[in-house]
Amino acid sequence: MKLLVCGGAGFIGSSFVRLRVNEHGDDVTVLDKLTYAGRRENLHDVIDQIRFVHGAIEDPVAVAGAAEGCEAIVNFAAETHVDRSISDPEGFIVTNMQGTHVLLEAARRQGMRYVQVSTDEVYGSIEEGSFTEQSPLQPSSPYSATKTGADLLVSSYFHTFGLEAVICRGSNNYGPYQYPEKLIPLMILNALAGDRLPVYGDGRNVRNWLHVEDFGHGIGHALAHGLPGEAYNCGGPDECENIEVVRRILGLSGRDESLIEYVTDRLGHDRRYSLASAKLQQLGWKARMGFAEGLERTVAWYRDNDWWWDPIRSGVYREYYERQYGRALKR
Ligand code: NAD
Ligand code: TYD
Repeated sequence: MKLLVCGGAGFIGSSFVRLRVNEHGDDVTVLDKLTYAGRRENLHDVIDQIRFVHGAIEDPVAVAGAAEGCEAIVNFAAETHVDRSISDPEGFIVTNMQGTHVLLEAARRQGMRYVQVSTDEVYGSIEEGSFTEQSPLQPSSPYSATKTGADLLVSSYFHTFGLEAVICRGSNNYGPYQYPEKLIPLMILNALAGDRLPVYGDGRNVRNWLHVEDFGHGIGHALAHGLPGEAYNCGGPDECENIEVVRRILGLSGRDESLIEYVTDRLGHDRRYSLASAKLQQLGWKARMGFAEGLERTVAWYRDNDWWWDPIRSGVYREYYERQYGRALKR
């Protein structure tokens, strides 16, 4: 299949590209703006087997050029970090909403199938039970609000123009090549370096953890078998309180709990996310990786791949970290 993968140089997009090239033999074009989160290094092992276009999804000319000859668009491109959306929301509106609109227009003009990669955060927080695709959309951060806006635009293009569009909503992903602003890689790299592990609030917030390769397979099912106009939840097999995630990482890194530091809570911090994924399972998808095994493998990957994270951790990330956490990293 000829695929345009937008945001394919990011964490989940690059894993999806690897999967499509290696397991499906797809002809992949990646369109990516290469923001701080997008790196060619994430595609190092498949870069010779794809076409890479450096450009933004909100740029109609770049999109038209990249989309030429493609049968489907899978859109991963987004500003993705909740904390950054709190300190500076504007870029989230441009990329997540305006950018999605430009892609939808291109898909409509060319009659392409369209998959929007979305998130459990569009439903907001849930104390007990799990969200289904019928649950109301109640986002709480600027990040999740812009992802919700994008989802609604996607649905409108199905209802109004008959675009073959499908939405796939994942829970919290983890695995190799994740930028260390997110909980798991941040805590792993800090543990390995002997830096403090900053836990927000009481550490009792709960996330539903999904290995990045399982999400890639779920998105593949939505692409191949999803009904146009439908949304599909893709939730991980296990949930875990943040403090328990941090304790496990310390154990796997050979460090003790004295490195834990409770810090000021995130504004508007969602307590718990949880997805019911029966609808995607009916299409034949099932998560293969449990959290215990996935986390162990992920810690091992970061331990063995300092070539990947060292340039990040010694670059502009240091300034971001100091601004966000009010303390410098050791090295
Ligand atoms: P990421 O931040 O690692 O990567 C985002 C990618 O998009 C980067 O390569 C970046 O350069 C690119 N990008 C950003 N703005 C762009 C623009 N204007 N034009 C073109 N490219 C642009 O993100 P991720 O964690 O891989 O998330 C990918 C998608 O999956 C996002 O849509 C996100 O909302 C969704 N999602 C993420 C998670 C998670 O836990 N990380 C869970 C569910 C859904
Ligand atoms: P994050 O990885 O930012 O994903 P999301 O907010 O999209 O779920 O955060 C996951 C959880 O970890 C969330 O409850 C916030 C918490 N967290 C910390 O406690 N400390 C941190 O330094 C970070 C980045 C997150």
